[in-house]
Amino acid sequence: MSDRELCDQVMTLLVAGTEPTGHALAWAVHLVATHPEVEARLHAETDRVLSGRRSPEVTDLARLEYTGRVFTEVLRLYPPGWMFTRTTTSETELAGRSLPRGADVLYSPYALHRDPRLFPEPGTFDPDRWSPDRARLVPRGAFIPFGAGNRKCIGEHFGTVEALLALSTLCARWRLRPVPGAEVRPRPETTLGTGPLPMLALPRARG
Ligand code: HEM
Repeated sequence: MSDRELCDQVMTLLVAGTEPTGHALAWAVHLVATHPEVEARLHAETDRVLSGRRSPEVTDLARLEYTGRVFTEVLRLYPPGWMFTRTTTSETELAGRSLPRGADVLYSPYALHRDPRLFPEPGTFDPDRWSPDRARLVPRGAFIPFGAGNRKCIGEHFGTVEALLALSTLCARWRLRPVPGAEVRPRPETTLGTGPLPMLALPRARG
């Protein structure tokens, strides 16, 4: 690699490898804090699997099944990569429209994930839509928080493991509460952030 290529690779990893995971985690703590019934199940699972430990290990993740559902549902509602482009490499047809070679096509995982034909009650934060029975009804290609095809995210597994470990560690130690009056609105920039997210961190009693 030339120095230029090396620099580009490092920058890609530094940006692509941190911001989406950070934003997804911010949405996760916001959604969990505003859905006490989800929080209660999350805490119960964390307590059962960690049984007194303060942080999970990678080997715990298979048993943190509900935590996985919660994070998947977070990625459905607030996919950090909310808008992407593709350029046609040849003349083609898409949804009944003909496109010339070199056309820029925009597509939005955010809009797709909120299509009621694909996800009933799409605005509802419902981690159980990812239970094995219901998840298999989601059509292929309807859920693409990591993109699809040749340019699909290379950090999918790494980012997911990182986020699940962080979420579970937070749940083991803290109960996060929204600061009254703080308004959280999606910020559709390069990735989809929460903007400032003030929260109260209340230590959980240790059993
Ligand atoms: C929850 C966390 C993450 C999400 C939601 C996410 C999502 C995405 C999406 C949607 C794309 C574009 C795919 C496309 O154009 O089809 C992408 C690309 C990419 N991601 Fe991630 N990502 C995450 C974490 C990570 C991590 C941790 C790394 C690295 C350690 C990473 C490295 C990359 C790279 C290098 C690309 C560009 C791939 C290419 O263009 O060939 N991502 N990511």
